[in-house]
Amino acid sequence: MRALQQTSLAGPTGLRLIDTPRPVAGPGEILVRVTAAGVNFADLMQTYGTYVDGPTAPYVAGFEATGEVVALGPGVSTFAVGDQILGMGPGAFAEYLVLPAAAAMPLPRGWSGEQSLGLMLNWATALAALRLGRVAPGETVLVQAAAGGVGQAAVRLARHLGATVLATASPAKHQLVRTAGAHEVFATVPDRPIDVILESVGGPDFARSLAAARPITGRIVVYGVAGGDATVTNRQLNFHPVQLIGLHLGVLMAQAPELFAEVLDELTALIAAGVIPPGTPTTYALADGAAALAALESRSTVGKLALRP
Ligand SMILES: NC(=O)c1ccc[n+]([C@@H]2O[C@H](COP(=O)([O-])OP(=O)(O)OC[C@H]3O[C@@H](n4cnc5c(N)ncnc54)[C@H](OP(=O)(O)O)[C@@H]3O)[C@@H](O)[C@H]2O)c1
Repeated sequence: MRALQQTSLAGPTGLRLIDTPRPVAGPGEILVRVTAAGVNFADLMQTYGTYVDGPTAPYVAGFEATGEVVALGPGVSTFAVGDQILGMGPGAFAEYLVLPAAAAMPLPRGWSGEQSLGLMLNWATALAALRLGRVAPGETVLVQAAAGGVGQAAVRLARHLGATVLATASPAKHQLVRTAGAHEVFATVPDRPIDVILESVGGPDFARSLAAARPITGRIVVYGVAGGDATVTNRQLNFHPVQLIGLHLGVLMAQAPELFAEVLDELTALIAAGVIPPGTPTTYALADGAAALAALESRSTVGKLALRP
């Protein structure tokens, strides 16, 4: 089968299209013929080796895909051959992917695979961030990188939860972010008291987030480091007291499965209620995966990106 292999720590230029044996489903696993793979910021970090506990080159890249179940490993009873699924597992930038049945879900009724991409990685992350941030109606929420995959989901959900939604994005994306539901859009974190900040950027923006969080009750949910590392000191928290909350979806799944299940149940209800619409990813051919990741890195993309094998 064809697959995109990361061969170095040189970033997206280290991706090569290779021919490799089709994987085989082991106990508890399913084999999926991939129809589209989701491209995520984490894929970009992995190409530089900056994703904590990420794979070591050479590896088949990608970890989110949708497609058709073509074989079941021993012990799998939750899916049947022919089912269309969305799932997560390493090696998704390929024609076939093996993943644990537990890491897959059926598509929402009437949705295509491509329309479903991002339900877990974008929408579940956004909803988990808002829930961990305990967003209440009437509060002010700031969503960073609001034109992106997670960002647009967070804007829409925060608005649904009754928040006043502030957002940051590159200036060329501001109109899109307003259309997605933000009340006000900025190029960087605004200097005003904010109740909940969804922090996916870090770097120099982190100090601005810290300063903007409302003293005592303000919550900062940290779930990304797109702009680089940032530090916070005990002195800062002592004299500008705010609440810092970390989020990693994989850790949430593994360490707090009941909380993750609540997030998925709420997502299902939001899909049924029409709050979460089918996605419209920008698609690239598998062979153009390096270009897709380079576009993500250049901050020129909006919304979800996908590769078609
Ligand atoms: N913790 C988790 O479990 C989890 C799960 C999913 C995603 N994430 C994180 O959520 C974020 C969004 O992920 P995504 O896949 O949806 O990507 P994305 O938002 O579609 O793309 C990243 C966006 O981040 C902004 N950005 C990139 N580099 C930046 C920099 N140096 N400084 C400031 N902003 C920068 C850019 O937006 P603008 O040009 O508009 O500023 C860019 O379009 C990422 O940080 C990702 O790692 C975390």
